[in-house]
Amino acid sequence: MAKILGGITTSHIPAVGKAIQDELHDDPYWKPFFDGYPKIHNWIKENKPDVVINIYNDHGLGFFLDQMPTFAIGAAHEYRNEDEGWGLPSLDPFPGHPELSWHIIESMVADEFDITSCQELAVDHGFVVPMQLFWPGAPHNPDMPRAIPISANTVQHPIPTLKRALDFGKALRKGIESFPEDLKVVVLGTGGLSHQLEGERAGFINKEFDQYCIENIAHNPEELTKITRQELVEKAGAQGTEFLMWMMMRGALGDNVTEITRNYHIPISNTASGTLLLECE
Ligand code: DHB
Ligand code: FE
Repeated sequence: MAKILGGITTSHIPAVGKAIQDELHDDPYWKPFFDGYPKIHNWIKENKPDVVINIYNDHGLGFFLDQMPTFAIGAAHEYRNEDEGWGLPSLDPFPGHPELSWHIIESMVADEFDITSCQELAVDHGFVVPMQLFWPGAPHNPDMPRAIPISANTVQHPIPTLKRALDFGKALRKGIESFPEDLKVVVLGTGGLSHQLEGERAGFINKEFDQYCIENIAHNPEELTKITRQELVEKAGAQGTEFLMWMMMRGALGDNVTEITRNYHIPISNTASGTLLLECE
C-alpha cells in the first residue's frame, strides 16, 4: 500500500526561482533563506519518496478568474510550465503519476469532495519553485519523484475555509493510503506565510500571526480552523490566504507528526518565508 512519509511546506516566491538561477545561495540577502533547505535535502535523500503530491495555488497560469476550481487535481502524464512574466525561463515538463491521480480522485469524490480533474494543466511558480528548492536541478534531478499537482483557489473569493482545507487533506490521506502499490509519498504545501502584494497594505507582514500558525500546525491544527477567512486576510494579508495549502498538507499527515526542521525569515521579496518539515509517526 502507498505510505505517506511526511509533509514539507515552503514559500514559493518567484524571486527565489531567479536567485536559484543566479546561484545566489551564499549572498547575504539569500543565505538565511537557503539555509533552511539542507536538512530537508538530507531527509529526502534518506527517505527517497517515489511520488510528490504538490499542493499549491495557481496564480493565473493554469486557471483564470473566469474558470476557477475550488479544488483541482492533476491527472496527466506530465505537467508543462510556461512563462508567467516573472523573467524566469520556462522549465521542461514534470512527469506525473496518472494512476495514483485517478485513484485519489475516485476516493475523494466518493468521500463527497467535488474535485475538478485536469488531464492537462500548466503549473506555475507555486508548483515549480518548491520543486527546484527540494530537488535542485528539477525537473532534471534524477532523484525527483513523479508529481501530482493539487491546486486550491486562494485567489478569487469565496475561498475554502481552513476547516475545509484540513478536511481535504484528511480525505486525500485516505485516497493515498488505499492505493494498492507500495509507493512512498511526500506531500508539499506551498505558499505563505503572511504577505500582501497589492493595495494600501502592499508589503504587509505579520510575524506574530505567522508564529502562531507555525506553533499550532504540527500538534494542534484543529485550533487553526477557528480562524475565519476574513480574519485570515486581515491577519496574514491578501495573499497570506496561501496558508490554506499548509492546512491541506497537514490534514494528509494524520494525527501524530514529528517536526524535523523549520525556518522562518522576513522578508524575502514581499513575503514572510516559512519552511517546515513534518514526519509522519
Ligand atoms: C511573491 C509571493 C508570492 O506568493 C507569489 O505568488 C508571488 C510573489 C513575492 O513576495 O514577491
Ligand atoms: Fe503565491
